[in-house]
Amino acid sequence: MSTSTTCPLPPLNPSHRVIIVGTGLAGLSAATQLTTHSIPVTLLDRAERPGGNSMKASSGINGAPTRFQTGHEDDSFYADTVRSAGSPFTNASGDERARRERLVQTVTDGSKDAVYWLSDEMGVDLSKVAQLGGHSRARTHRGVSGKPPGAAIVGALLQKLKENPFVEIRTKSRVTKVLKEAEEVVGVEYVADDQTTTLRGPVIFASGGFAGDIRGMVSQYRPDLAGFPSTNEAREGSQPLLESVGGGLIDMDRIQVHPTGFLDEKDKEASVKFLAAEALRGEGGILLSNGKRFVNELETREHVTGVVTGSAAKLDTSLQQWDVTLLLDEGAASALDSHMQFYLWKGLIRKTKFAELGQETLDSVQEYANVVAGRKDDPFGRKAFGNWTLSEVQSDSVAYVGKVTPVLHFTMGGVLFNERTQVLGEQGEPITGLWAAGEVTGGLHGQNRLGGSSLLECAVFGRIAGNEAAAFYQQHYV
Ligand code: FAD
Ligand code: SIN
Repeated sequence: MSTSTTCPLPPLNPSHRVIIVGTGLAGLSAATQLTTHSIPVTLLDRAERPGGNSMKASSGINGAPTRFQTGHEDDSFYADTVRSAGSPFTNASGDERARRERLVQTVTDGSKDAVYWLSDEMGVDLSKVAQLGGHSRARTHRGVSGKPPGAAIVGALLQKLKENPFVEIRTKSRVTKVLKEAEEVVGVEYVADDQTTTLRGPVIFASGGFAGDIRGMVSQYRPDLAGFPSTNEAREGSQPLLESVGGGLIDMDRIQVHPTGFLDEKDKEASVKFLAAEALRGEGGILLSNGKRFVNELETREHVTGVVTGSAAKLDTSLQQWDVTLLLDEGAASALDSHMQFYLWKGLIRKTKFAELGQETLDSVQEYANVVAGRKDDPFGRKAFGNWTLSEVQSDSVAYVGKVTPVLHFTMGGVLFNERTQVLGEQGEPITGLWAAGEVTGGLHGQNRLGGSSLLECAVFGRIAGNEAAAFYQQHYV
């Protein structure tokens, strides 16, 4: 049975409401914004429970400059994002270049307000800040303790939406068609309990990416990655629904491989893996192959993954997997206490002593400890060490270790959109009545998304989509 979490809708033209496809952070942000305009909204989600992949987010949300950042000015977020986006950004020209610039500007300029909106208005603790790969500053916000950031943010927004009489959330309701009449999107068809239902109104797509669609869209756009495990739910991408009403697609072959998914020794062949949060490296953790460091762990994901797949030992499994160890000292581990308790409980990380790890590992870690203590420069160019504290490594010093391997994690490509979140056709023309936000969109991140910037784009563009759809609704239906 489809599930509806709802109070009766207020008598505001009940035959139309704004329809949001997807209940991850992009959809919930859009819905929250719509409620501030007192507009009825129905969220549809094919899953049994709301929250999408947003629920799993583990390292946090970027914001700069914010009052939670300490010890430095931060005016380099735009530049870091462009550097990470690489050739799809720098090689673009004309309208496409201008559009990409506006997208990056909108998300980086809006980052401070997004963090303050979540912390000050939605009541989510985001006071702890870490530096993730490819960032020149610490700007990824999470809570001091308690739930990981995705669950904390999604939980807070959901709670407020469930109490709001303008909001209806329908789970187990899969959108199968976007309805277009006379060049305007006018609603959707969805299937619940084997029954097809039509809903009419302006539509916001917040249906996420396709990194879990290993046999479908990943195989179609990047057959070379089809054998990788993924951190995403194994569901189909919904971009084709937007294509069918004229939405253009961009950067579809740009699929992010995160360097550290946990390789559970008890279930090596699992195709959906728990993520080893990038914050584990941000707080000081290192990567070892055969007992040796081999990369600046805080380079971009694209770079770190390239070095892993180019130099670490490949495992003899049916999936494409490599043999890499993630290692933390007590300082780094204690900065992520609630994450670590979960990983230890799951058996994905274990607590041990260097005596058990062998002399080669002890020597490598002593070299890294010398770098952290300022006794020498890092041969790989790493400059930030989070909360690593171990200075003299002894055979009875404590280490936390887990096996990790690269995993499909995020799709940079998606439907063409602009900074007003209007879905665009191939030639850049907006499609009336249709907006998109979050991972379903393409063109913002280029060839590599920075850690922490997806939750951010969901909040920034989700809220913009909510405002845009509200203005449209008020013009057409009130
Ligand atoms: P989602 O949250 O994926 O939600 C999309 C929803 O749409 C889903 O619930 C889905 O069921 C629904 N849907 C799809 N198609 C249909 C359809 N046809 N009909 C009805 N419903 C449909 N990013 C960060 O910035 N920081 C982090 O720390 C971070 N950690 C992560 C950790 C993990 C393990 C994973 C997997 C991702 C992480 N990310 C992180 C990435 C980030 O969480 C996602 O990219 C982002 O949350 C996507 O949000 P979204 O709202 O666009 O989509
Ligand atoms: C992670 O915790 O490593 C994921 C962060 C992200 O995808 O932004």
